[in-house]
Amino acid sequence: MPEALAPPSPAALRACMARFATGVTVVTYDGEDSPRGATMNSFTSVSADPPLVLISVAHRARCHDQLLDRPFCVNILGAEQEPLARQFAGGPGAAEPRWTAGARVPRLDNPLAWVECEPWRAYDGGDHTLVLGRVTDLGHRDGDALTYAWSRFGTLAESADGIEHLF
Ligand SMILES: Cc1cc2nc3c(=O)[nH]c(=O)nc-3n(C[C@H](O)[C@H](O)[C@H](O)COP(=O)(O)O)c2cc1C
Repeated sequence: MPEALAPPSPAALRACMARFATGVTVVTYDGEDSPRGATMNSFTSVSADPPLVLISVAHRARCHDQLLDRPFCVNILGAEQEPLARQFAGGPGAAEPRWTAGARVPRLDNPLAWVECEPWRAYDGGDHTLVLGRVTDLGHRDGDALTYAWSRFGTLAESADGIEHLF
């Protein structure tokens, strides 16, 4: 039997992952007494048929159990919506969230894009649960995206040529 490799330290793992640039979302849902949300950058597009997306939810997050059993909305944030990302990460009150009136599932007001989902499957992901959502509705607007890399929020200052022709 080969010797088991020692796991990397949490700090080394974080340092690598911090170099993977992502967008920023707030995942919103009905908290029964009020709409709630949590900032998440683990969002990934998974499948076109059926339409599926993935979020990875920490066991310790208050939203963990709710996101397994009710619809949720992934709000992809625009460049000017950083205060919302801080607010829903439990940071000091940075923004009073506004909500879209009449939405079937609680949704922030005017996200750059939004993807409404029903929970589809959930998988063990260590200290997280991988939640696949089946997309039930969606929308988008023009604007720049908020980004997250090096543990900092940012924006895409310059964009290279697109590769739409490959897909
Ligand atoms: C940029 C950023 C990305 C985050 N991504 C995730 C994520 O993908 N999954 C997760 O469970 N928590 C993530 N968090 C942490 C949650 O936003 C934070 O724990 C929040 O307080 C959870 O809210 P809740 O406990 O009210 O559900 C992220 C935080 C930040 C600042």
